[in-house]
Amino acid sequence: MTPDAAPHLIPNPPVGVAVIGVGLMGAHHAENLAHRVPGARLVGLADPQPGLAERHAARLGCPRWTLDYQQLLADPAVEAVVIATPAPFHAEVIVAAALAGKAVFCEKPIAHRLADADRAIAATRNARVLFQIGFQRRFDREFVRARDLVNSGGLGRIQFLRSLTRDPSLDEPERVPPGAIFRETLIHDFDVLRFLAGGAEPVEVYAMADALVLPDWKSRGLLDSAVVALRYDSGALATADASFQAVYGYDVPLVNLVRLTWSTTPNRVPRDHGCIGSWTCSARPTPPSLFILSPEFEPKLQPRRAVITAAGRRPAARTAAPRWCSRSRR
Ligand SMILES: NC(=O)c1ccc[n+]([C@@H]2O[C@H](COP(=O)([O-])OP(=O)(O)OC[C@H]3O[C@@H](n4cnc5c(N)ncnc54)[C@H](O)[C@@H]3O)[C@@H](O)[C@H]2O)c1
Repeated sequence: MTPDAAPHLIPNPPVGVAVIGVGLMGAHHAENLAHRVPGARLVGLADPQPGLAERHAARLGCPRWTLDYQQLLADPAVEAVVIATPAPFHAEVIVAAALAGKAVFCEKPIAHRLADADRAIAATRNARVLFQIGFQRRFDREFVRARDLVNSGGLGRIQFLRSLTRDPSLDEPERVPPGAIFRETLIHDFDVLRFLAGGAEPVEVYAMADALVLPDWKSRGLLDSAVVALRYDSGALATADASFQAVYGYDVPLVNLVRLTWSTTPNRVPRDHGCIGSWTCSARPTPPSLFILSPEFEPKLQPRRAVITAAGRRPAARTAAPRWCSRSRR
């Protein structure tokens, strides 16, 4: 649920949210929380890089910053956290936030290893805290419409799904961790291919990847282009593919090819042939200049709104008093 759909649920007073890890995505989340998410208040920033959290705190009028996220977790003013550290740290921070009783929004992927993902999920369940992963495509209007159509049976039996992701450019290959095209990029496609499969689950997966954009980086472990094929337990098939460099911009279309039932197209197909129809949705191609840092890329706001709406209806977590610096104490 989002406040857009239910404005009376916007928390008042606003939920105090801190951001842990204020690199590219964390700074984006912090900016949204400071200015654009109804019912939320940006109350703290943490990042081990000296000066980074402090700089963003000054820019956004955030009252607290620290190098050590544990200090934020000890502060009762922090009711929820947004975790935007690199993925290998996610599980550790999720577990710590859950133990501190904070609602957790964590960027994808939940972890790089299954055992860490299980550990993080168990910690949030045991602590009974809200927990959400940043799969923003689920909140895009078109993807929501597609899911409603699938679940209502309006598209008939799903036979084939295709999802693709195009990032606009690969400018800093040294910042791309090994396997990122699968674990950090195509993970969005894997998510929507489950989200839109009407409950079917993948049972077979085949994958190929290469360094086609920057072949010279292949020996250093870079994979910048990938294709994945899946078969579901329903018998449906799917493909997902990704490229780190589509020069026309950021693009996330999804094509859903289905068998339309006779009743939905009574005048267009002979009864005994059925019909293969197609339906497409997209998170709206975004020019490289806007990419993910633009407020116009609305789906990125939605998950935060959902967790914040829910967090606002829960009693604030009880935690110990903070023992750390804040801008007002400097
Ligand atoms: N949902 C999306 O579309 C999307 C897009 C880009 C990135 N992401 C995800 O966001 C996360 C962050 O990516 P990024 O591109 O912002 O990375 P980044 O490297 O730009 O930023 C990560 C920040 O976390 C800080 N950090 C590292 N360890 C920390 C710790 N223990 N505590 C606090 N801060 C710590 C780093 O100093 C850095 O400033 C990744 O999981 C990535 O997959 C999601």
